[in-house]
Amino acid sequence: MKVTNKTILVTGANRGLGKALLEEALRRGAKKVYATTRGPFKHADPRVTALTLDQTDEIQIRQAANEVSDLDLLVNNAGVAHSAELIDVGVIQEHLDVNLLGPFRVTRAFSPLLKRSKGAILNILSLAAIAPVPIFAAYSISKAASHSMTQLFRAYLATHGVAVHAAFLGPVDTDMVRDIPMDKASPASVAAGIFDGLERGEEDIFPDSMAQALAEGWRRGIVKAVESQNAKYMPPETPGKDESFTRTFSVEQSPKEVFEAINDVRSWWTGDIEGSSGKLGDEFTYRYKHLHRSTQKLVEIVPDKKVVWRVSNAHLSFTKTPAEWNDTQVVFEIARKGDATEVRFTHRGLVPTFECFDACSGGWTHYIGSLKKRITTGLAQKE
Ligand SMILES: NC(=O)c1ccc[n+]([C@@H]2O[C@H](COP(=O)([O-])OP(=O)(O)OC[C@H]3O[C@@H](n4cnc5c(N)ncnc54)[C@H](OP(=O)(O)O)[C@@H]3O)[C@@H](O)[C@H]2O)c1
Repeated sequence: MKVTNKTILVTGANRGLGKALLEEALRRGAKKVYATTRGPFKHADPRVTALTLDQTDEIQIRQAANEVSDLDLLVNNAGVAHSAELIDVGVIQEHLDVNLLGPFRVTRAFSPLLKRSKGAILNILSLAAIAPVPIFAAYSISKAASHSMTQLFRAYLATHGVAVHAAFLGPVDTDMVRDIPMDKASPASVAAGIFDGLERGEEDIFPDSMAQALAEGWRRGIVKAVESQNAKYMPPETPGKDESFTRTFSVEQSPKEVFEAINDVRSWWTGDIEGSSGKLGDEFTYRYKHLHRSTQKLVEIVPDKKVVWRVSNAHLSFTKTPAEWNDTQVVFEIARKGDATEVRFTHRGLVPTFECFDACSGGWTHYIGSLKKRITTGLAQKE
């Protein structure tokens, strides 16, 4: 993949290698770079958009994903490394949470966009993923696991046209290894080496001189051979696993009538509704018995074509994760098709991995039926 004109997201872009990758992407003519950081971040280049993202926090990841509409390349760079012996379960858990589950969560959130663009993922690994470094025991375990995850995403996403690259780095002169006396490559040279490898289409990238010495042996070695052999054993396709709940129906009524019915939310979404719905910025709170509370804000409205609500303040008391709906979006798209008007409903973010997916899908299916009745008969529904 060429970086020029691409939209790129780099995690942990405020310092170290992430900052160098951000600068290198800009230097190579990226169209837009999303720089995700845990704290406040500003960049002088107007092509840079800062997003807050701690990769251990599902809600922050979802909020960030809501801000991004197109993506060509996801760079999973953020990570931690504490030098520690192989003793402490808590230290291993912390490394796995950030270095394995972090990129996993981020990849899961952004892969729908990458499938759409037929884009790429670049996971920043380490030579410690290939063989562990004893003073970085927990880190090595997490990077080896992250390598396995990278191979799996490569196999799973290949059919969607998404390329998954791994960069195996030797020591780089950043805060991470500041106190370790050894030869280190500069972050700028490593960032350039990583993008050179990506632009050459290398699946596994060895960007610095210590890593480069191993590249040929690795590419012709047994691990790559077994990886491609095992990649044939894919589970049967389960379509839509990471896709949001969606339903489409058609009615004879005009787009204007459909648009008005959607905004007349009290007439088809039963329960207690406080507030208003009709113009941009309107907000209403929905309550259903003690089971469901959520606030919907109208964040996009195109008369007779589209309505988007953003959900906050959610509390679904029948689940163990009652705030699951927060920062999801409820989208109604209206289009005239021949003699009919098609309505596509999507609860963006309500995916099968959600605890409430089954119950909420059932609820929405009922209310979409109720909306259709409201459109076709003009009558409000009762529970
Ligand atoms: N330096 C090396 O020798 C070396 C060698 C091989 C591989 N690598 C890999 O290169 C990548 C970058 O490391 P680096 O050397 O640039 O390290 P670094 O200077 O310590 O920077 C780490 C970055 O990750 C971010 N981060 C840490 N925990 C996070 C979390 N929970 N959520 C989101 N961001 C988080 C940090 O953000 P804050 O500023 O908020 O802490 C920072 O931006 C890592 O994946 C690392 O494993 C480094």
